[in-house]
Amino acid sequence: MTHNTPTAQPAVLDTIAATRRYVREARAASRRVALVPTMGALHEGHLSLVTRGRELADVVIVSIFVNPLQFGPNEDFDRYPRTFDADLAALGGRADAVFAPSVAEMYPSGASQTTVHAGAVAGLFEGTSRPGHFDGMLTVVSKLFNVVQPDIALFGQKDAQQVFLVKQMVADLDLPLAIEAVPIVRESDGLALSSRNRYLSTTERELALGLSSALRVAGEASASGIAAARRAALAAFDQRPDVRLDYLDIVDPATFLPLGDDATGDALMLVAARVGATRLIDNAPLHF
Ligand code: PAJ
Repeated sequence: MTHNTPTAQPAVLDTIAATRRYVREARAASRRVALVPTMGALHEGHLSLVTRGRELADVVIVSIFVNPLQFGPNEDFDRYPRTFDADLAALGGRADAVFAPSVAEMYPSGASQTTVHAGAVAGLFEGTSRPGHFDGMLTVVSKLFNVVQPDIALFGQKDAQQVFLVKQMVADLDLPLAIEAVPIVRESDGLALSSRNRYLSTTERELALGLSSALRVAGEASASGIAAARRAALAAFDQRPDVRLDYLDIVDPATFLPLGDDATGDALMLVAARVGATRLIDNAPLHF
């Protein structure tokens, strides 16, 4: 059996038992297993995780599961894009297997009685607008880790708070795998790829550039310090009143806590904003 040559069509696994069997066979052949957790509606951002997974492991398994536990009652669970056939086609020649369970397979009793409770950082930023989101996310991510038992799992830096909390869970609970964060993939004009971009009308897509341009001007102003970078980013949002800013913060990447105006060193600027009915997030590293 040759390594690093996925078949044109990935194996589709829709049960936990079949997935465990698949992974057991891979392990018996001493193959390193990578997991890329997704909710489907795959784009080049997701595919960059798969490509990186292939560099780091012999077998790449992509999970596709729209996890009800991480959506709030007024969020887009029902209308979240589900494009399974296109996803499978996109993964052809890239991923070895797709784990695509039903909600009943993952939550046979309807919900999970036992959940993972994220640390205090989950109450900030995304957690303010989406209470319970990170507990639901960490719960399904732990379940996926337990089903697949990968050597490595890959997450996008696009969801910076998510990958921070996943790393914290892995450290806190001594989970036996490595977490790899992969850089944000953007359109040529700067818009970060997101499954939710397909909700945007042409006008809204233009407005959505407000997030990446604010990050860009903050980067340009960063030589003058944190306050100047924040001011520059806020001014960019002021110019686009139709982009409703949810939060704009500069955090320490090591703790994910806000930095004071006189801090120096590595930083991460986080933004979230609404364009029409769509909520978008973005972030960029800064250095002060
Ligand atoms: P989803 O939104 O489908 O994203 C799956 C992975 O793709 C995440 O790690 C996300 O950060 C990454 N990703 C999305 N857009 C990206 C981009 N433009 N560049 C790089 N990576 C990008 O995040 C989730 O699903 C869920 O919360 C999940 C982890 C699967 C748990 O349900």
